[in-house]
Amino acid sequence: MENKALLQHKKTIKQVPMIQGTKIKLGPYPHNEEFYKIYQKWLERKDIQNDLGEPEQAPSLDEIKDMLTGWDTSEGNLSWCIFDIESGKPLGDINILTNQEFKVPEISIMVAESQNKGYGKEAMKLILDYAFNQIKIKKIALSVYKDNVRAVEFYKKLGFKTIQEFTKPEDEPEYLMEMENPNITKNQNP
Ligand SMILES: CC(C)(COP(=O)(O)OP(=O)(O)OC[C@H]1O[C@@H](n2cnc3c(N)ncnc32)[C@H](O)[C@@H]1OP(=O)(O)O)[C@@H](O)C(=O)NCCC(=O)NCCS
Repeated sequence: MENKALLQHKKTIKQVPMIQGTKIKLGPYPHNEEFYKIYQKWLERKDIQNDLGEPEQAPSLDEIKDMLTGWDTSEGNLSWCIFDIESGKPLGDINILTNQEFKVPEISIMVAESQNKGYGKEAMKLILDYAFNQIKIKKIALSVYKDNVRAVEFYKKLGFKTIQEFTKPEDEPEYLMEMENPNITKNQNP
């Protein structure tokens, strides 16, 4: 049901809307070479690779272009770039996505620039509000490496609950976390 709501929503919008916050705004990825180079630099960083489980070999510019275009056009994916309102600089991205493996949609975030300044928290609050009130998703999940303490604490503070711990083959332990839509009570019919 939650996945259906997301798939249906993606069909009705051509591209993700601009969402205005106070310190940041969210909008579609800028599809130009300058942005692809910025994104590539983010994925080349050891700290980002470690936090996200990305490969050590960062993708080429063509691969980045294909990846971001693929996310924009994929039926189960909503992706926003996070921009600093004051400077207009891209800071990272945030996605709600589903695929055949997921029971409920998952959220993922990367704030690559200006970490620990509250930008991630604001981006998550804006997207959770959008997911719960616009798409009307009932539950949202995420997975995070257990040793990514900053992200685990960040998600807990936002209200995510740890559901289980799991380890994929040849990978590090992860937590599956979930949050229910606070506006939908348990007894309410879908
Ligand atoms: C995790 C991430 C999204 C947080 O966004 P941010 O903009 O840096 O963080 P914010 O300033 O909004 O929030 C910081 C919160 O993180 C937590 N935090 C930060 N550093 C911490 C640390 N060393 N130990 C524990 N908690 C920490 C705190 O809960 C803090 O909240 P507070 O300011 O109320 O105390 C961002 O740092 C990031 O993208 N990191 C790299 C990629 C990543 O790890 N993504 C998540 C993968 S699942």
